Amino acid sequence: MKHKPLITRAQLRRRIAALGRTISQDYAGKRPVLVGVLRGSFVFLADLIREIDVPVEVDFISVESYGNATTSSGVVRMLQDLNTSIKGRHVILVEDIVDTGLTLHYLIDNLRTREPASLVVCALLDKHQKRKIKVPLKYAGFVIPDKFVVGYGLDHAQLHRNIPHISWIEEQ
Ligand code: IMP
Repeated sequence: MKHKPLITRAQLRRRIAALGRTISQDYAGKRPVLVGVLRGSFVFLADLIREIDVPVEVDFISVESYGNATTSSGVVRMLQDLNTSIKGRHVILVEDIVDTGLTLHYLIDNLRTREPASLVVCALLDKHQKRKIKVPLKYAGFVIPDKFVVGYGLDHAQLHRNIPHISWIEEQ
């Protein structure tokens, strides 16, 4: 298996700085809760919050989406719930990648029942070619082609999260 670079560290840095600026403007005077979807979003979230200059809180939610190694089935299981009550809060759900949209759809439905003041999504990667269900992406880093990508927190069978840029896997 080879790794081909798709998005470089410099491109990530620039785009995430821009996302942080936009979020800071949109949430001026507010104190949003950023909810990272584990495990893939932890690197992105860590960089993103350092580009935001309004007060933020951070929490995590962990879900597992059943399927084979590279596609999700839409059947999602909650592994770890939030520690924070989000009732009346401004929530930004931070995802690594949106593919079919099924995982995000489940999460949005689930979090909406807790009556946040607002709920939007910030996804680093938008892989929309295989989208099965429409999901609102208020903030998106990069639109990418339908390839399985790893690095910058994203894994393949739990490996490659530590690659500092986004790569795609080429089966040999
Ligand atoms: P969806 O439910 O099909 O939108 O898939 C979303 C989840 O599947 C993401 O949160 C990732 O955990 C995983 N995923 C989808 N595509 C990729 C990929 O290219 N690389 C790594 N993980 C992926």
